[in-house]
Parts: sequence; C-alpha cells; structure tokens
Amino acid sequence: MTIRALVFDAYGTLYDVQSVRGLATELCGRKGELITQLWRLKQLEYTWLGALMEVKEDFWALTRASLEFALEAAGVTVAPTLCEPLMTKYLNLDLYAEARQALDALAGPKLAILSNGSQKMLDALVKASGVAALFTDVISVDRAKSFKPDPRCYALVEPALGVAKHEVLFVSSNGFDVAGAKQFGFEVAWIERGGALPAPSGSEVGPAEFYRLLRGRAEKLGNAADFHIKALTDLPGVVAKLG
Ligand code: LAC
Repeated sequence: MTIRALVFDAYGTLYDVQSVRGLATELCGRKGELITQLWRLKQLEYTWLGALMEVKEDFWALTRASLEFALEAAGVTVAPTLCEPLMTKYLNLDLYAEARQALDALAGPKLAILSNGSQKMLDALVKASGVAALFTDVISVDRAKSFKPDPRCYALVEPALGVAKHEVLFVSSNGFDVAGAKQFGFEVAWIERGGALPAPSGSEVGPAEFYRLLRGRAEKLGNAADFHIKALTDLPGVVAKLG
C-alpha cells in the first residue's frame, strides 16, 4: 500500500498543549497546573458536545469557554488580564522538539494538518512556528462545521489533498482521534505523548498525572491504531514499512 499523504492532528501531536502551563502558573500561581489540565479536558469535552449539539461556535470560542470554566472551577475570577494572554498563547504553542526535524525528513508524501482548530488559529500556529511552507494544506474542521471524531471532518482530507483514504497515514496523540480516524478508514499511527505512565500507587494523583492517565493512553474503543510510535521521527520508518 502506498502512502501518498501524512495528515497530522495539531494540538497534542505537533503542538504541546501543556506549554500553556508556564504562563498559567505565572498568572494564577499554584493553581496554574490545575487550570492547565482542566482547560484541556473541558476544551475536548466541549468539542464533543459541540459536534452533537451542532453548535455554531468554532474552536476559538470553545477554547475561550473552557478556559473560563477552568478558571471558575479552580476558584479564580475570570478576567481579561488572565484570559487574553492565555488565549494568545494558544496561537503560539510550542512545537514539539522533534517535529521540525521529522517533518523535514518526510519528503515524498504530501503533508497536511487536520485539526479541530479554527482556520485562523491554525494559520497563526503554523506561521508562528515557521512550518507553514511544509504543508500542502492546513485543514480546519471549520470546513465541515463540526469537530472530530465526526466522520465528516476526516472526509475533508480526500478532496483537499486529492488522495484516497487508504493512501492516508493519520497521526495523532489523542486516543479519541485515533479511534475516529481508524473508524473512518485511514491508516493510523498513535504517538504516545503521555509517555508510558506507570499506574499510580494510590488514588492521590496530581492534575497532570490525572490528565495523562485519562488522555495520554490509547482508548479501549476498538479501532486501535495500526502503529504505535514514541516520536514523530519514527514516522519515516512507518512509511517505509507501508511501502
Ligand atoms: C486537534 C485536537 C484534537 O488538533 O487536538 O484537532
């Protein structure tokens, strides 16, 4: 089977959503870690609810709503002095350390992003991280007016890139996204961004560990990934294996 396109999830796969932690801690002190984790958990939940409810809001609006939820849940007053810089950080998240080198090494197949991010957010992100020119397309689910794992989102890839679904290797760290992409019919690589986290010795886990236990692991939904990788630099080997 020939892979003609590699399509990447953005948040958590190419870009580190945990990189808001520094700013959250600067702005919210010792509640920064809790806010970081609540924010991402709630943001994903809002995309799933948003898809089911067919809401008109895009990922920017849901990211803002989930930030406000996280601040309030942590007992921090929602204020523009907190929300504006934290939202701005979402346009300039850290690219994972090995991503640039890995993308450069993947000459041959088309490269693209398929993300829940709004088109504006994604365009800002790829520009800020200096990788815009590497992608044939940066596909926002805005075009489907829904959110992953709605199959209509994955269906954006074939017409955008001019490839068939079996020619696509989709790469995500997000378990639900792996399941959705596999169910749709892509070849799928799951990148273990959470690391192989050992089981905790008791119930007392911190917010970051709780997040990783819940979101850093592969889902048990069936539709398992075809490949497990530890870093994006493992991808050329996967592509070679697929022929
Ligand atoms: C994205 C979310 C799922 O980039 O992380 O689409």
